[in-house]
Parts: sequence; C-alpha cells; structure tokens
Amino acid sequence: MRTPLAWLLLPVVVAGPGGVALAQQTNVLQERDQRTHPVWGPRGMVAAGEPLAAEAGARMLRAGGNAVDAAVATTFALSVSLPHSTGLGGGGFLLLWLPGASPALGRSHLPECRQARGRELPLGRGSAVGVDFREVAPAAARSDLFLDARGTVDRQRATRSLQSTAVPGTVAGLLLAQRCYGRLPLPQVLAPAIQLARRGVPVSRNFSQSLQAGSVLLKADPTSRQLFFPGGVPLQPGQRLLQPQLAATLERIAQGGNAGFYAGPTAEALTGLMAQGGGLITPADLRAYRARPVMPLQISFRGHPVLALPPPSGGLTLLQLLRLVEPQELYSTGLNSAATLHPLAEAMNLAYLQRNNLLGDPGDTPIAAERFLEDDAIQRLRAQINPSRHRSAVELLAKPALMQEGSDTTHVSVADRQGGLVAVTSSINFAYGNGITVPGAGFLLNNQMDDFSAKIGSPNAFGLVQGRANGIAPGRRPLSSMTPTLVFRPDGSPWIATGSPGGSRIITTVLQVLLNRIGVGLNLAAAVAAPRIHSQLLPDRIEWEEGISADTLQLLRERGHALQRAVAMGAAQSVEVIRGGGSYGVNDPRRAWELAQPE
Ligand code: GLY
Repeated sequence: MRTPLAWLLLPVVVAGPGGVALAQQTNVLQERDQRTHPVWGPRGMVAAGEPLAAEAGARMLRAGGNAVDAAVATTFALSVSLPHSTGLGGGGFLLLWLPGASPALGRSHLPECRQARGRELPLGRGSAVGVDFREVAPAAARSDLFLDARGTVDRQRATRSLQSTAVPGTVAGLLLAQRCYGRLPLPQVLAPAIQLARRGVPVSRNFSQSLQAGSVLLKADPTSRQLFFPGGVPLQPGQRLLQPQLAATLERIAQGGNAGFYAGPTAEALTGLMAQGGGLITPADLRAYRARPVMPLQISFRGHPVLALPPPSGGLTLLQLLRLVEPQELYSTGLNSAATLHPLAEAMNLAYLQRNNLLGDPGDTPIAAERFLEDDAIQRLRAQINPSRHRSAVELLAKPALMQEGSDTTHVSVADRQGGLVAVTSSINFAYGNGITVPGAGFLLNNQMDDFSAKIGSPNAFGLVQGRANGIAPGRRPLSSMTPTLVFRPDGSPWIATGSPGGSRIITTVLQVLLNRIGVGLNLAAAVAAPRIHSQLLPDRIEWEEGISADTLQLLRERGHALQRAVAMGAAQSVEVIRGGGSYGVNDPRRAWELAQPE
C-alpha cells in the first residue's frame, strides 16, 4: 500500500553533543518513490519471523488483548513453530510501552508487578519498562568451567554439552510481562501455541533445510532425533512437526504459571536429564530463577526519544553508537558510501571495545549505564575516530586509556490500536541451541553459557573476544547482544518498535535500521532491506552484505579496512505507529519464512 508520508518532509531538529540544537532538512526520500513498502493495518500489527506465530498475536489483538498479550502469544507460538530459534529452554529481553496508567487489571498487588512498577520510565502519555529474562549460570558453574587440563577452551563442551545450558528464563519473563501488563487470561494467550504443538506445524522448505543443516547436532541426541528425524531423515516439506510433549508442557504453564515449568513434571524432566548427563542445573537453580523488571535506558537521537535495555542486553551499546554517530551527518555522504561506512565501522569498533571489555551482568543492582552515554564520555570516544584511516584492533587494544574505567534468535514487534508497543527478542543461542531436547518435556536447551568469556582472549562462537566483566559465575547472566528497541516521536508519542536476531550482529543491525529510517528518511521497509555492514573490533574487519558496491569496497580498503563478504546479517522485525491511524509492519526480506501450505 502506498501512503504518502507528508509529515516526513518537515524539517527535523538535530541536537548536537553539547546540547547545541540546529535545524536542518533531512535527506528525505518520499515513500512512494522507494522500491519496497511496509504493510499497513488499521487495528494493530504483529511483525514476527514466522506467519503462524504472527497470526497467534493478531488473534490476541482481535480478542481485545493489548500489545503485551500479542507479543507473549507470538513468542510462545514461535517456540513451537521456530524451534531452532527460540523456545522454553532459552531466554531474552522484552521492552514495552503502554499508554495510560499501569500495571493493568488490578494485578498490581503482585510483588513482581509492584517491582516492575517501581522500574517504569514515564514517557509521553504512558510509561515503559523492560523485562530481563536472560538465562542464569547455575550455582555449580565456575569460571574455568570450559577449560581443559591445558587451560584451553573446550568448544565442544561450551556449545554442545548439557553444561552449556544456563537456567532458562523465557517462561518466567513472558509470564511476568503478561501477568503485570497484559489484559487477557494466560490460558487464552497460550492457546495458539498449544494448538500448534498438538495439531502440528506444517513443515516448510526452509525448516526442512535447517534440519538437514543441523542434522549432525540433532541426531546426536536421541530425543531430538526422534522428534525431527522420524525414520532417520529430516521432516520433509508437506509433513507436520507434531510436538505432543511440548503441548503438555505448555498446558502445565497455562494452568500453573511459573510452577508449570520451574517445578513439577517439567522441572523433574529437565533436572533428571541434567543429573544423568553431567549437566549443572538442579531443582534449586530452577526454583531460584527470577525474571528481572528493569528501567529502560533513554537517549535522544535527532530529537527522538530512543529506549533500549541496560546490560546484559545489547541496548547500551546500541545507544552509545547512536550518540557517537549522531552529529556526523553520515547520510549527507550518501547511503552506504565509503565516506559513510568508514566512520560508522570505526564507531562500531569503539563501542564493541567497550562492550567486550567493560560490560557484563550488573546483578540486581542496576549499573551506572548512563555514564557510558554522558556527553563527556561520548565526546572522548568520538575523538578517537580518524576520519580518513582505519584504526586497527591492535592499535585500539594497545591503548587501554581509550576505555573509560569504568543464529539463531528471533524477534517480535507489536503495535496495538492504542499505540502500545512491545519489542521482544528471545533465543536459545545457536540454531537448535545445544541440540538436546528434554525427554518428556519436548523443548530444546540453550547453549548460552558460551556467551560468557570462557577464557580472556578466546573468542566465543560469534568471534567475540570478551573480558573479565563477563566471566562465568554462579547466578550471573551472560552478556547478550539482544536489543529490543522503541523509538518515539519528539512529542513523546509512540513510533517504532524493532529488534533482530543475529548474535553479535544484532546491535549493528538495529543501528542501521534506525539510521536509515531516522537519518535518511527511508520508509521502514526500505530501511530494513538496505544492505548492512558489521564490525566488532575482533575479528578486525568489516563484514558486508551483497549490495555494497565494488567501488565502495575499494575505497574502504584504501582507508585500511579488511573486508569480508557476509551471508545476510540479522532479520529485523519492525512496526511503526502511523499518526493518521493504523500501523506499518515489516518482515526482514533476509529470512522470509514461507508457509508450507495455505492453512
Ligand atoms: N546468544 C547471543 C546473544 O544473546 O547475544
């Protein structure tokens, strides 16, 4: 649908780092002139990586639920229909903004809702709050967990064993958000996921291919083999993935809430497997797990309030990057030109230098994340960017003064009719996590323990070389790149919810979506579709997607960058509230997930 966005043509105000405000005309392209377009809907929008799960959320909106009900229903449904990306055995982060008073429905007396209320950030005519449901290292985890006798990281154990599993948080996090901020009864919100698990998910070509790609991992586990490889071959397009054990687990959650997962038969199945197979998670670890309500971080980017979550989420690094590049007029030099991409990549390296060396789980005491976003801190960092020459990782790492002291995943974005926004990213880490399905409970286990620094100087599966601040310790949450993000109009009214899978590329994916939308004025679909780059300090190179021109790559080489062509990075799911009514939604074309057959 082609809807001219006349309001985009208004001048915008750009706030400089020193608080100087200057008015300027952005290089706005009219939406109808662009090659790709978002879909429009009059009564809310759900953007998710798989259509049956998106429909589960839309059902909640049609039934009078709000954005929280829809996001929770969709994420539970994704745990059934995209089992390689997310699931009950994983964790993640949720960020919501709702208009009016909260929490909803008189459930505010519950202790977790009272705690959440205390962490709300008032903004415009409503308030925002985050839920950190990242997995937690079990009580028996030690800093040298994955080191062998020679002190080398045992990659197999760090990623493919029961020890690679941290205590799952998805159920506690989604339930906390829904209980405190949703409108519908929990059994109604879980019904679509239960139905999908019982009646079966039609197997698409993509899913069958992903099973083939994961066959070594999955066939090594008897329960996964039985579930996904009946007769020894991967489920084929046209067949159905039936998950009766997962349906029963979801029913226990629908009836018993957290106790349906963290106690009783589900907990016994999980801890029994751990005890048998050398895993660390005990019944006490499950009983102790709590999702954390968190106050979002806020910055202003070109006059727009932008909200994201503090560590262990990747939100702080995203906000640092936005602040770093804000005054650089990146797009006056042209979308994806070398003059634009060079300072962008340098900023990415500096932000990852700080992320990888200084950030970790702050525990229950919120860290002073704001100090990373203060004008002085940002200006000091920005001064390190050489406009004409790449500064190598060796050079940056050799100057610790630079540091102030101090995929598979999936994302859902929802806008409801009242302008409520929810962004939720959840994951079991790699595709199919560690490949191990809990017998009797039917869900795959995460291998997020690999997101900790197993050893200083040793890269994890995403090539991230991280520091002591992210070391393994009992009860800690590993540092993540998951970055659910909300953007508001300058008057505080809700505008965009976005986020992405992509491991360490999540932060830079969200960054480029926002720069393209806000800085260039591309419509949301074009902003998502534009080719992206990624740089994370180490490995010291720019990864680039198809669509960056050969001339640009040559100019980047001349500035000293090493380059690596990447497969498509990230898969942003985004929604946008339209001022005139309704909302836009965009599914990233990089991982469009076809339906196996019309239902
Ligand atoms: N497991 C990848 C991340 O959370 O960043």
